[in-house]
Amino acid sequence: MKKIQCKREDIGRGPLILVNRDHPLRESSVQLVPLDSLSPEGEKVCLERCAANLLQACVRSVGGEREIVLVSGWRSHREQQDIWDATLKTDGEAFTRKYVALPGCSEHQTGLAIDLGRAARQIDFIRPAFPYDGVCGRFRQRAAQYGFVERYEQGKEGVTGIAHEPWHFRYVGTPHAKLLQDNSLSLEEYVPFLRTGPKNCLLEGRIAQVFYAPCAGEWTEVELPSRCGRVQVSGDNMDGFIITVWGEQR
Ligand code: DAL
Ligand code: ZN
Repeated sequence: MKKIQCKREDIGRGPLILVNRDHPLRESSVQLVPLDSLSPEGEKVCLERCAANLLQACVRSVGGEREIVLVSGWRSHREQQDIWDATLKTDGEAFTRKYVALPGCSEHQTGLAIDLGRAARQIDFIRPAFPYDGVCGRFRQRAAQYGFVERYEQGKEGVTGIAHEPWHFRYVGTPHAKLLQDNSLSLEEYVPFLRTGPKNCLLEGRIAQVFYAPCAGEWTEVELPSRCGRVQVSGDNMDGFIITVWGEQR
């Protein structure tokens, strides 16, 4: 029987961390890279390295380099605070709570979230237009293949605490983006879903098994299937780990 050990402090790390008003970001030590080529002139948008590479690949795969604009990526706590304060001043509290996460509780602070817009002379920074048709629609169709999901969907406002944001995408990686999409789940609903039992996902001819391991102390021992390929572990930023076990490469 193969086993791995997961460390308690890693609960707050990895592509599947849930960051919202109930679960603030615990730390921020990801490797950020700038995405100059796709950003509007003069702007420097940064994302976590893996998310950055896959976002660029997805945008290129749909020929969206000119039409898809990176509006906002990684934000420091200070930047999130400034956005919160400025929006509060101009648009009031109800609007701000709907469209801006509390400083310390924004996915943008993880480097795993990106706001996208369709190129235009004027782009609304808080609510950029990113439609469901044309090149933006093609991006949406491909996004899960590259590990991205539309994070704040219509109908999930009561679960996420945020209004529908068609422009905000979150990198969760594969096969999780597909599992979330196929089962119409928000990230808040993912751990409860995984707690009901391991899930299998077929992706490009390979099977991945995903399961949840609750934190059992300083170290959590997790048993793996005896025949398995690559294993990935992400914290959930709550009280456990999400384990992804890929099938053996033939
Ligand atoms: N607009 C999203 C909710 C944020 O501020 O993180
Ligand atoms: Zn956003």
